Amino acid sequence: EAGLRRQLLDVHEAATQYFQAALNSPMAARAREYMSGRGITPETVQRFRIGFAPDDFNHMRDELRKHFSEEVLRASGLFTSKEQDQQGLPTGNLYARFRNRVTFPICNEQGKVIAFTARALLPDEKTPKYLNSPETALYTKGQVLFNLDKAKAAIRAQDYALLVEGQMDCISVFMAGIQPVLATSGTAFTEAQVRLLSRFTKRVVVNFDPDTAGATAAEKSIALLTEEDFEVKVVTLEGGLDPDRFVREQGIQAYGAALRGARRHSDYLIERARTQFPPRTPEAKVKAVNYLMPHIRRVPSAIQRDAFITDAAQKLGIDSSILRQEMKQAAAN
Ligand code: UTP
Ligand code: MN
Ligand code: MN
Ligand code: MN
Ligand code: MN
Repeated sequence: EAGLRRQLLDVHEAATQYFQAALNSPMAARAREYMSGRGITPETVQRFRIGFAPDDFNHMRDELRKHFSEEVLRASGLFTSKEQDQQGLPTGNLYARFRNRVTFPICNEQGKVIAFTARALLPDEKTPKYLNSPETALYTKGQVLFNLDKAKAAIRAQDYALLVEGQMDCISVFMAGIQPVLATSGTAFTEAQVRLLSRFTKRVVVNFDPDTAGATAAEKSIALLTEEDFEVKVVTLEGGLDPDRFVREQGIQAYGAALRGARRHSDYLIERARTQFPPRTPEAKVKAVNYLMPHIRRVPSAIQRDAFITDAAQKLGIDSSILRQEMKQAAAN
């Protein structure tokens, strides 16, 4: 009900302020060092309301208990306990979920904090690098795009959105002056996110990490977006850098140039097909075609689909009328 939602928003605001205050305290010296080492300026810290979760199980809970009911704390996702329900919400004694981590608020479209993601200073095998809020009455992972609140005006004005994987990628690119940027937060892009985005633009540039996980995520995003008739372009950065590191090491000018060099999704996918199955034999060509076929079929416009087929045939060394015939046969089956 409205009452609980309101209180959940309030408890997230209180937690944000708690983490922000902690970042300015002596116990956060190492966290501040870590951030300046990554080029995160005080201006960035303020703009994104970055904070620090102290290495303490109880303190924040005891503070928030002065202002919020046990029910609200339990439903907030900010705490955990030895026993949890299916959603990951605590059913036993509450303690802080985020400890000794740098905290990044996740906001709704209106800029209200609805969840957190928190980075370990020194990731190890025992704990994940990033820890996220579980799903709550406020937060459904697949329905949120990180930074939409700050990026939406620029997305409308410039009629495109740049999609990156990580919060840090998003923050670095945004603070360097490219504002229409959103992060998927490392999870699979969802139909709900596509619908959300389509209220602002139908043009997307995808720039995921240049590794296997990033390539897989790019492919899935391309599939979802082209199906909804988005114009999709893809950037792959040189040197194995993610956008955050690229911007810091090569500068925003070089990053802007990489964005301008974004390839249309069909060119990107044809290139992927050629890399995975170098079309030197008929067998490899069959594999390359099988890889591309679902992507080609997904394109709603017949004209664009036809151009995709023509390009694919040419770059795979196949007669385009034969490829068209294959497409028809596969569709009939
Ligand atoms: P990456 O592994 O590429 O991390 O995951 P990153 O964004 O470059 O992080 P830094 O630069 O090392 O700080 C991409 C995204 O996947 C999610 C996060 O949203 C992250 O930004 N992720 C990653 C998690 O949720 N949990 C993890 O343990 C790791
Ligand atoms: Mn207080
Ligand atoms: Mn990655
Ligand atoms: Mn990174
Ligand atoms: Mn990365």
